[in-house]
Amino acid sequence: KDTEKMDSVKQLIENLFGESLKLTVPDELDVVPIVTPCKDLRHGDYQCNNAMSLFAKVKDNMPEFRNPRAVGQAIENNLPASDMIERSSIAGPGYVNVVLSSKWMAKRIHNMLVDGIETWAPKLPVQRAIVDFSSPNIAKEMHVGHLRSTIIGDTLARMLEFSNVEVLRRNHVGDWGTQFGMLIEYLFEQYPNWEASASQDIGDLQKFYKDSKRRFDEDGDFKERAQRAVVSLQGGEEKYRKAWSQICEISRNEFERVYQRLGVVLEEKGESFYNPYITKVLELLSSKNLIVESEGARVIYVEGVERPLIVVKRDGGFNYASTDLAALWYRLNEEKAEWIIYVTDVGQREHFEMFFSAARLAGWLPGGDDKYPKVSHVGFGLVLGDDGKRFRTRSTEVVKLVDLLDEAKTRCKAALIERGKAVEWTTEELEKTAEAVGYGAVKYADLKNNRLTNYTFNFDQMLNDKGNTAVYLLYAHARICSIIRKSGKDIEELKKVGTLALDHPDERVLGLHLLQFSEVVNEACTNLLPNILCEYLYNLSEDYTRFYTNCQVVGSAEETSRLLLCEATAVVMRKCFHLLGITPVYKI
Ligand code: ARG
Repeated sequence: KDTEKMDSVKQLIENLFGESLKLTVPDELDVVPIVTPCKDLRHGDYQCNNAMSLFAKVKDNMPEFRNPRAVGQAIENNLPASDMIERSSIAGPGYVNVVLSSKWMAKRIHNMLVDGIETWAPKLPVQRAIVDFSSPNIAKEMHVGHLRSTIIGDTLARMLEFSNVEVLRRNHVGDWGTQFGMLIEYLFEQYPNWEASASQDIGDLQKFYKDSKRRFDEDGDFKERAQRAVVSLQGGEEKYRKAWSQICEISRNEFERVYQRLGVVLEEKGESFYNPYITKVLELLSSKNLIVESEGARVIYVEGVERPLIVVKRDGGFNYASTDLAALWYRLNEEKAEWIIYVTDVGQREHFEMFFSAARLAGWLPGGDDKYPKVSHVGFGLVLGDDGKRFRTRSTEVVKLVDLLDEAKTRCKAALIERGKAVEWTTEELEKTAEAVGYGAVKYADLKNNRLTNYTFNFDQMLNDKGNTAVYLLYAHARICSIIRKSGKDIEELKKVGTLALDHPDERVLGLHLLQFSEVVNEACTNLLPNILCEYLYNLSEDYTRFYTNCQVVGSAEETSRLLLCEATAVVMRKCFHLLGITPVYKI
């Protein structure tokens, strides 16, 4: 369906103030309207904050403005007439507050119900983006850090996709490097029949990695063979390539199990993919005199960091940074991405900043936050256990991701059974709901905090059905659906013949919150902060609860309008869930 994209409410208000500012002060000042939602709804819905800073700029040339408030007054007077604004006022030193017309608000919500929530998708200034996320390493453990990257990256990709950006979801797996010599040699030694044997024979790839590493450290002969194997692999020798790809395949299957459960889609373009481009890309950088010799290695010095970025190791080999430079070149030139987003733990910030700087020196990136193409490192903090230390389970050093998801599901299922759902529902309904709530809880617990902070992994907390959890929110949504169902009304019919009104103050507050969906998604995308959307969703459910407590829906004179408002809330909540990678449930 071809949907006309609309400006957000905030954008529309900005447009109005933009026109007013043009009439108020000379064009050449090029003032950009600064509009924010009012913190206190008693003052208004949105406010324009330009008067104060503008006064400083114009006071010498425009003596008619004796103080900032006079500027504010003029901005208010020059506001063009619009059916979206009910009234405006001046506050304090010159804030211009506007109150939206409730009628206009109601109409806009009703239109969304008819035309679909896609009409509320934000408009972003990019066509194509790459989100580089998850990106575990072959044969090594996929740890909770990778889980965070997977969850955060998937949400960012979903938000951008919803905003009509074409997103290339890239899994930059660590599938290249010297460790493969040791792994391949160990495969040959332990599994002489490796070519014929099915991949599951190797079983636990992490154990395989550890054992081969021990062999490498303890046996000089083996070490030598492993080092020769690296050369054979990089030289493209058939047997070695085959062994390498078999090892990768085993890891890939394990990663895929996690992605499937999480409902995450990714396209693998691992480090090995970019290997053939490295030489050419480094030559390009050399030709710009960016690469210099240092202690036998080849390096790039970037501003502000004392240590240089090593791009060719002393043994002549390439590394993580050379691969990332080649990948960036490929993404800019071959894939024509305008925004490249990397999701890893904050510990890698320096690596990203350094190779971003190198790319800027090479003239690949214009630099500046509003110039494209642009690169962003989306860093995140640690996952902690209850002891405040890095999250681990008792028995093993690392937490198996699949086990974690299993446990969340099991606990949810037990809670549902306790509430009698095993009798009430089909087995499939029970399973599906337990999965949706369990996996949703794990994701939401991760996303609701600012990603830069560490957070404590705690099943009891995240599975609590009260407070700011996915469980609470999913149930809130299901409750709305059940109110609509139980009303016995055909909501599609009501959309056609009914009208929506926002006459009660609590209806209006809820309506305003719904209307802000678009600008909130925009903000979450622009700042790459999913927690902004979580906060919005949680506040939405609070506004809904207040409305539902104070306004009778079924059986009231306003039933039709209020059912439509319930439906609009459910639609927006569902879209939030979808953007957060959470499957909504309709029954509880
Ligand atoms: N494989 C890396 C790790 O596990 C993450 C890769 C992130 N992406 C990138 N282009 N460097 O830490």
